[in-house]
Amino acid sequence: MADEPIPLARPVLGPEEETRVLEVLRSGRLSLGPRVPEFEAAFARWLGAARASAVSSGTAGLHLALRAAGVSDGTEVVTSPFSFVASANVILYERARPVFADIDPRTLNLDPEAAAAAVTDRTAALLPVHIFGYPADLPAFERLGLPIVEDACEALGAAHADGSRVGARGHPAVFGFYANKQLTTGEGGMVTVGDAGVKERIDSERNQGRAHDMDWLDHDRLGFNYRLSDLACAVGLAQLERLDDLLAGRTRVADAYRAALSGIEGLDLPCPDTGGNRRGWFVFVVQLPRGSDRDAAVRGLAGHGIQSKPYLPAIHLMSFYRQRFGHREGEFPVCEDIAARSLALPFFPTMTELEVERVAVALRDALPVAT
Ligand SMILES: Cc1ncc(COP(=O)(O)O)c(C=O)c1O
Repeated sequence: MADEPIPLARPVLGPEEETRVLEVLRSGRLSLGPRVPEFEAAFARWLGAARASAVSSGTAGLHLALRAAGVSDGTEVVTSPFSFVASANVILYERARPVFADIDPRTLNLDPEAAAAAVTDRTAALLPVHIFGYPADLPAFERLGLPIVEDACEALGAAHADGSRVGARGHPAVFGFYANKQLTTGEGGMVTVGDAGVKERIDSERNQGRAHDMDWLDHDRLGFNYRLSDLACAVGLAQLERLDDLLAGRTRVADAYRAALSGIEGLDLPCPDTGGNRRGWFVFVVQLPRGSDRDAAVRGLAGHGIQSKPYLPAIHLMSFYRQRFGHREGEFPVCEDIAARSLALPFFPTMTELEVERVAVALRDALPVAT
């Protein structure tokens, strides 16, 4: 009998999610109802953040957070080229310019020194990304004295060296709830903020620019439809109840991968937690040995029914960014080397040790034998 296919990601949903969604359906309040503030409060409490605003996606949250940070036409935002494309796209939504700086080869996060060197008198904000759930060096970015928006879309459950959770430092920090994330609502996101005025602005702009005390169809600023529905928030509340277990499941799978993949010559694994920083496990991304054929590895894994994905490509080398800004190979060598060798392996909380072992064996098979 052929082995079962192993997908890249698999959400964990159960009867709790069904019950809560049914409650909302039966209540008739599908949007702008009580589940939204309930989910926001429960999320902020879990994280240790002062307050939170639910939004329709991580991208929507980043857009609103950048607007709240004062990013506007003609300004610049210093950010990482090693991220999902959304973190750069949102800068363009405000007709500002994404200014990339290279990444740290160990953590794969924006390098604070490179970021400092990229700051100009047009820099309106810094947008560090907690890539693959590893905390970016926020204390170093804070020393630059500029507004910060944190892309924490991949980092739910991560913690800084001082023990605070990623997203609880007071800067707008944005989480994503797409189906492969630590917590999912199908599509969705959350912006955590320290400042009550910033939350008020984000809440208004996600709802077409309507202040909370204004009548329906009255609007005092430009806004968007970036609302998260009560149905989605109901799923989020059920997911939040099981979040500690989901995160523990991901940590278990990561530990199993680390053991199963150790000893493969030239294969780089995600950096271990150091200095008190703690990763919130989202994906298990390895860098293949230099000189190996990544496409052949993807095909080799697929031959065993195992999904894998080159993840992530460098943003500045995507065709749109090359054409728009004239980026070329060689600008950010660390990012380019990492991006060219990165491969995401199947990773989800219910993955078994046997499945991890199958991936490890297939990956060894797919790599050239070191001579
Ligand atoms: C680093 C990063 N930023 C932003 C996003 C965008 O989130 P969403 O897909 O919810 O809009 C993602 C989602 O994959 C992400 O991984």
